[in-house]
Amino acid sequence: MGEELAAPSLSTDDYLSINQRTYEALADQYYERSSQDFHNDIPIVDRIWSLLETVVERRPLEILDVGCGHGVNLKMFSDLGAITTGFDFSPAMLSVAHTISPSSLLVQGDFMAHDWDAKYDLVFAKAFLHLFPFHDCPKIIQSMKSIVRDDGLIYLATTLAATSDEGYIVKHDYRGNLSRFRRNWTQGELKQFLLEQGLVIRGEWINDEPLREKTWQHVIVSAW
Ligand SMILES: C[S@@+](CC[C@H](N)C(=O)[O-])C[C@H]1O[C@@H](n2cnc3c(N)ncnc32)[C@H](O)[C@@H]1O
Repeated sequence: MGEELAAPSLSTDDYLSINQRTYEALADQYYERSSQDFHNDIPIVDRIWSLLETVVERRPLEILDVGCGHGVNLKMFSDLGAITTGFDFSPAMLSVAHTISPSSLLVQGDFMAHDWDAKYDLVFAKAFLHLFPFHDCPKIIQSMKSIVRDDGLIYLATTLAATSDEGYIVKHDYRGNLSRFRRNWTQGELKQFLLEQGLVIRGEWINDEPLREKTWQHVIVSAW
């Protein structure tokens, strides 16, 4: 996968500010790859949308994209008729998201610290959970549970790892050799963790992204 441990001496305490700096610097490159992501994500969004339309009767559907990055998925769900909100701690990413998905409400903040006063039919979190150390993941999942409606769904995706570990990793699939905190989740481990958090698996699949030599694991869960 071309990723290597960057600086084992860096403290986990600093991971939020290090990740924020890294994603702020990568926003332009996310914009450059947005067309490719539109294409790659069609089957993902279609699959989630079909299930969501089946289990939730309310219309229009309201979707929160946590760590929305460039906003490609916001645009896709908006085009399907959803009311969309994007949440990200990087102002530069949110500026790209505004260009790509101008009808979405965009909120800047740190998910670990944010107070929510709204509820959503879908909490969508693609390539997000793996940016947190294991000890903070229960807090992330419990926050997601608290903002999803009773009949709603949570979607999570991360790459499929052969072994479970975490640390600062250089992002070699982008220019600049920037590092960010990253956890590698094996398939069984992610599932087990979500079950322990009181969630029920409603859908799961794996797909390859050949251009970036990644295999993704996707999970749709609910609290009902
Ligand atoms: C790997 S990118 C994924 C972007 C998009 N979801 C996708 O799949 O292409 C992760 C995004 O999460 C944001 N992010 C990471 N940690 C965050 C946090 N604690 N609070 C809010 N946003 C965060 C980053 O700024 C970045 O835009």
